[in-house]
Amino acid sequence: MSIKQRIAVSSSESPASGYEVLVGAGIFGSIGAILSNFCPAQRYAVVTDDRVAELYAVRLSRMLHAAGYRADVFAFTAGEARKTRETWALVSDAMMEAGLGRDAAVVAFGGGVPGDLGGFVAATYMRGLTLVQLPTSLLAMIDSSVGGKTGVDTPAGKNMVGAFHQPRCVVIDPDLLRTLPPEHLRAGMAEAVKHGAIADPEYLDWIEQSAHKLLGGDPEALCRMIVRSVEIKAEIVKRDVREAGPRKLLNFGHTLGHAVESLSGYTLLHGEAVAIGMVEEARLGERIGVTAAGTAARLRRVLTRLGLPASLPLEYAAADVIGWTRGDKKSRDGRVEYALIEGVGTPAVRDGRWGAPVADETVAAVLAGAGRS
Ligand SMILES: NC(=O)c1ccc[n+]([C@@H]2O[C@H](COP(=O)([O-])OP(=O)(O)OC[C@H]3O[C@@H](n4cnc5c(N)ncnc54)[C@H](O)[C@@H]3O)[C@@H](O)[C@H]2O)c1
Ligand SMILES: [Zn+2]
Repeated sequence: MSIKQRIAVSSSESPASGYEVLVGAGIFGSIGAILSNFCPAQRYAVVTDDRVAELYAVRLSRMLHAAGYRADVFAFTAGEARKTRETWALVSDAMMEAGLGRDAAVVAFGGGVPGDLGGFVAATYMRGLTLVQLPTSLLAMIDSSVGGKTGVDTPAGKNMVGAFHQPRCVVIDPDLLRTLPPEHLRAGMAEAVKHGAIADPEYLDWIEQSAHKLLGGDPEALCRMIVRSVEIKAEIVKRDVREAGPRKLLNFGHTLGHAVESLSGYTLLHGEAVAIGMVEEARLGERIGVTAAGTAARLRRVLTRLGLPASLPLEYAAADVIGWTRGDKKSRDGRVEYALIEGVGTPAVRDGRWGAPVADETVAAVLAGAGRS
């Protein structure tokens, strides 16, 4: 087993729910031993999508069988459109039919969609099964597999039904990224830009300078990105497991991002929508005097280097985007809350609040100028 890096995710609120994120090129090949050490169970339910299954499920099953475990694979059709209650029900029912009991563990295997959906199955199946996150997309490796947020989308919006359910461990093998399509590699980098934007200006500089290597799939650069992003996310989650305060910062770019993603009917990838959301929320912050002038331009420059969209496409009407933000969980008392930054690396915290409610008219004025500035 060649685990290169171990990052602890602890919680002051519930110390017993701490876990480790293991990172190492090639550690997928030792998954049997890793599960025996970090998450032993009688049986494993591998929840994945059909693309990841086609590439890796046979190998994973073989490795688990060779380690003496029984493993059943539950694969659903890939894509955000399947991150639904219907898929959750299909997978849960199939697991019951297969006779999986409370002594089983779920291995959420894939990108953020199997991660969130498999995590939600684990959170709810027989009132909760042990969970292992085995991410295969860059987005899942650097963001969604850490922190315990699980859930599904509903017609009202993204992630509207879900639960906090921490994994027992997270196993990240950057070698699995070799098969990830380039547009998904790129989209995952939006969350890394977010980590730099909210917590670490030097990291953002490094991402900008390393864009070429990162997009080319350079293993060392990708590994460095995974480790730094996981460290930042772990640090924030540690301070606030259930998103009562500082963790709201991780929603930077996501209020408008989720709205644009839903409005696109999921033709925009999550990371692409978040890229747009970050620039527009930075512009919003600049407009209301919270964010330093030039922050939106700085983010736009980095995102453009990564080949990501960096302003609201002209065909999206401001009123439609605003309509979708109202359904978001971040909406309170009819006013929508935005997690803003004062500048790169500096969160905006006002009167102990990590989210600022902003009037729809202000958002409308900013979006009306989007893509034209
Ligand atoms: N829980 C959280 O904290 C959190 C944080 C950020 C994002 N998310 C969620 O994550 C989701 C987006 O994740 P995503 O972009 O990984 O989507 P995804 O799971 O749909 O993966 C993207 C595509 O890449 C394919 N894929 C994944 N790994 C591959 C590999 N190694 N080789 C080849 N193909 C591979 C998948 O089959 C899919 O087609 C969204 O639903 C978002 O809401 C959750
Ligand atoms: Zn996200």
